[in-house]
Amino acid sequence: PRFCTVSNLATIINAKVPALLRNLESLGFEGLTHDYILDQENATLIADDYGFEVVLNDETGIDIFPEPINELLLQTRAPIVTIMGHVDHGKTTILDYLRNSSIVDQEHGGITQHIGAFSVTTPVSKKSITFLDTPGHAAFLKMRERGANVTDIVVLVVAGDDSVKPQTIEAIKHAKKAGVQMIVAINKCDKPGANPDKVVADLSRHEVDVEDYGGDVQVIRVSGKTGLNMDKLEEAIVTLSEIMDVKAEVEKVPAEGWVIESHLKKGLGSVATVLVTRGTVKPGSILVAGQTYCRVKSMKDEHGKVVRAACPSKPVEVWGWRDLPEAGDSVIQAKDEKLAKKVVDNRANRAKTIDEAKDVDAINKMRKKQR
Ligand code: GTP
Ligand code: MG
Repeated sequence: PRFCTVSNLATIINAKVPALLRNLESLGFEGLTHDYILDQENATLIADDYGFEVVLNDETGIDIFPEPINELLLQTRAPIVTIMGHVDHGKTTILDYLRNSSIVDQEHGGITQHIGAFSVTTPVSKKSITFLDTPGHAAFLKMRERGANVTDIVVLVVAGDDSVKPQTIEAIKHAKKAGVQMIVAINKCDKPGANPDKVVADLSRHEVDVEDYGGDVQVIRVSGKTGLNMDKLEEAIVTLSEIMDVKAEVEKVPAEGWVIESHLKKGLGSVATVLVTRGTVKPGSILVAGQTYCRVKSMKDEHGKVVRAACPSKPVEVWGWRDLPEAGDSVIQAKDEKLAKKVVDNRANRAKTIDEAKDVDAINKMRKKQR
């Protein structure tokens, strides 16, 4: 598991980054940079050299840590998908089409609010898919910085009449680096000028292993405008997620998730959209996020409907926060309010003492050795 970046470790143990990098080289690391994320073992080794020790959950730094995964409790969950691609290639159009065409939406009169994420039920296989609506925004960068990868699948949108462009290449690089599976949607295929075969050839030149050329990256020719093959795109996502076998524990573990968005609602207080990734959130659950916590007062989905239990891959608006949590904060359930309060107080104190260090989680696990 990833633990903390080289520069954060340097801050905590009061070392200079170049010296620390040299030290790491002597341990056999090559070509590291300041933002490399060390695992706990190596962070411990280095910290020890500088007279620091790694402390797991002691009373001077009380916090809540994820429990190890119990394989026996894993259940299939909906895939979490982000849409990426070059400007104007049709990302928003595709998301809007999916949002408005979902069976569930039609039953409930459409999606009434933009909560940063939404689920659809596919027309053929009746499976659920969760789409994240705002992959470019700060929350995602923050999550990525913390080594978290909430997305299972990237849908790469490429306009059939424009082909591969700089941000297409960026998206390909990102997906490869993050180890996220990719599906290509060649968009605007309704346009007479569209040339999907050229797009396929161009993608293959940029090392996308397209199925047309014998690879395993599915390519779907769609139109977000007319809805052409949008059902095929959804089925492709479902098929891939089944192959990937995406799973999470639903019961008997403390809930975990991420804050996707947050804002103050007039008269209603702090509201945060939480994407649940583990366990189940219910009214009355105590959640800690960043430097605040919440006794869940109520939850709503993207249709404005009250939710009684939010399972993994489910995005929900959560009411009842003491203060506004930040987009990108990780969420973890506390067993009671007393513990939540202690953890939040402690995080606030820590943030105060080491305010130049960003990785609060790692700092919590390290302190100066008593000699
Ligand atoms: P940014 O958010 O600015 O990066 O753009 P985007 O990728 O979200 O593209 P958007 O969905 O805003 O679409 C850009 C333009 O292309 C709009 O004028 C859309 O109406 C048009 N468009 C999107 N999809 C299609 C399509 O399938 N066919 C046609 N003919 N036009 C499309
Ligand atoms: Mg857009």
